[in-house]
This record gives sequence, structure tokens and C-alpha cells, in this order.
Amino acid sequence: MTKIISFESSADETSVAIVEDGCTILSNAVATQINSHQRFGGIVPEVASRHHIEWITRVLDDALQTANIKPIELDAVAVTYGPGLVGSLLVGLMGAKTFALAHNLPIIPVNHLAGHIAAANFNRPIIYPALALMVSGGHTELVLMREENNFSVLGETRDDAAGESFDKVGRLLKLPYPAGKTIDDMAHIGQATIKFPTAMAHEDNYDFSFSGLKSAVINYVHHAEQKGETINRNDLAASFQNAVIDALLGRTRRALQDFPVKSFVLAGGVAANSQLRQALAELLEQFQNTQFIPVPQLYTGDNAAMVGAAGYWNYKKKKFAGLDLNTNPGLDF
Ligand code: KG4
Ligand code: ZN
Repeated sequence: MTKIISFESSADETSVAIVEDGCTILSNAVATQINSHQRFGGIVPEVASRHHIEWITRVLDDALQTANIKPIELDAVAVTYGPGLVGSLLVGLMGAKTFALAHNLPIIPVNHLAGHIAAANFNRPIIYPALALMVSGGHTELVLMREENNFSVLGETRDDAAGESFDKVGRLLKLPYPAGKTIDDMAHIGQATIKFPTAMAHEDNYDFSFSGLKSAVINYVHHAEQKGETINRNDLAASFQNAVIDALLGRTRRALQDFPVKSFVLAGGVAANSQLRQALAELLEQFQNTQFIPVPQLYTGDNAAMVGAAGYWNYKKKKFAGLDLNTNPGLDF
């Protein structure tokens, strides 16, 4: 049994977890700073770094205590080194290095995006080859995985990420940041009565674009305001969400047709969206040989357990880093 302690601090969650063999979570302590950023309508990098500094040791203690594990029982330290905010990443990285040095443990560098995908293993083991749709606040990627820890990007967003579009529409509707969950809830009440365009639907690739949709929603609201009409906010949320899901579904269907894979992973913060999960589950019914493996809702957002899951992939291949490991804020797949 391999026990890995993992650190995640790329954005506004400070998290430390202990995961066994990349799939069994012994603890996953998460401190979120959402409340501090909400009044600014987004993450303020310096505020985020300061919060990480204040929380990291408390979260570490919590993770060790909950798992009832002594450092001597651990095999390695995994840490997110990118992508993310440099000041935030540095706090987790220094915490991980210090812990590794103090307890003579190897350091495993983890790509945050790989972490989101690896969290599917908390549902069921990913079977390869696999396709993954990674939808978060900063990324929208369709990825082919021929084997474990092997990523070929088939398509990505050309402008806004899917989660970013939720947050921008949320700001327009004066909803608290981040707005994904609130829009998801409003969409349950509303009806998708407004037809918004799905960008690039007929283009022959796997890319996404969400800025046109965002502009269409902004224009719709401004137009209604100018005419003194009241808008049904729930209907607007449902219509917007419908258009995002249409776009994600269209590209996913094309990729599933072109690449017959054994499993399909849905990952990233937007993977918490109830309608998206439902729509993809229905789509996957048409692909009998492909298992649908969404990341469990609890682990879709940023957390260190997912870093422990991806860290295990690197551990098996002995992909360790030295104490000179630096952050890579712009890291991709
Ligand atoms: O993966 P994540 O926690 O952080 C990044 O790495 O970006 O993703 C956060 C994003 C935010 O844009 C948030 O609005 C969105 O995930 N999100 C959702 C839902 N829950 C979170 N979007 C749609 N529906 C949800 N239920
Ligand atoms: Zn993330």
C-alpha cells in the first residue's frame, strides 16, 4: 500500500490530503477562501497567497489527524506545481518541500489538470484508452488518454473557459462569485426558452468558444433593459446553461465517434453541473463500449485528494522532482 500526502494551492483552496494507491482517500482537508474574494467578483491573487500562508499548516495538521497517520508511515509528497497563480502555487510548493525535507520523502510534481482527471479514479478505475472532458474555471479541454498519465489534447477553448462563462454571466446577473452552482440551481427552476447560438457547431474540429455566447447573453439583457422589459432570470440561466451544454455535447459526440475509447471521464469544477452530468450520461448510452466515469461531485472542485491520485501515476513511474522544483503557472498538458 502506497500512502501519498498531497498539497494543492493553485487558486483559492488550500488543501492537503492523504490518498492510498491513488484511489482510497484517507483524508482530504480543504480550506476555501471564497468569502474573501466574493466582494471583488473574482480571485485577488495577493489576498489568495496570504490566505494560503495562514491556512497551510492548519490544513496539514487536519489531514494527518483525520487519517490518523504519522509522517513515518508516508511514502511520498505530491504537490501541484502548475497551472495556477504563482503566489498561491508557491505556498503549497514550499509547504510540500519543507515536509519532504523534514521527513526524508520524495517529491512528486503534479499537473493540476491531470489531478482533475485522476479524480475519476475515486468513482471507478479509468479504463484505457479514455477520453476526458476537463471543464473548469480556467480550462476547457477534450483530451485523449492512450494510457495512464498520457494526454493528447484534441481540442480546447479558443477564448473563455466554460466555467469562466458561467462566472461572467453570473457577474452580469449580480450573482455571487463563482456563479456556476447558482446558475445550475436557477436553471432547474427556469425553462430554456431563449435560443442562444452554439459557436462553431459546424466546424470540423474539437475546439470550443464561449465568448460569443457570453456576448449574446449580455446583449439580450441590455436590450431588455433598454426596452424596460423585465427578464425572467431563471429562464435566462436555463437558456445560457443549455447553450453551454449543447456546445460541450456536440464536440464530445464527435470525439467519441472518431475515437472508440473504453471510458469517458468528465472532470473539473464545471463537472459538478447536474444537467451536464445528466446530458453526458444520456449521450454515453449511445456508446455501448464506453463507460461513463464522471468525477464524484464532491471531488470536482479543487482539492488535494485529486493531486494524490495523479501523484500516484508519477510515483509508479518514479517521476520525482528535486528540492529545486519551481512553479509553472502556465503549465498545460
Ligand atoms: O476546477 P475548479 O474548482 O477551479 C479551477 O481549476 O478553475 O472550477 C471552478 C469553476 C468555476 O468557474 C465555477 O463557476 C464552476 O467551476 N462550477 C460550476 C458548477 N460548480 C462549479 N459550473 C457549472 N455548474 C456547477 N454546478
Ligand atoms: Zn481546478
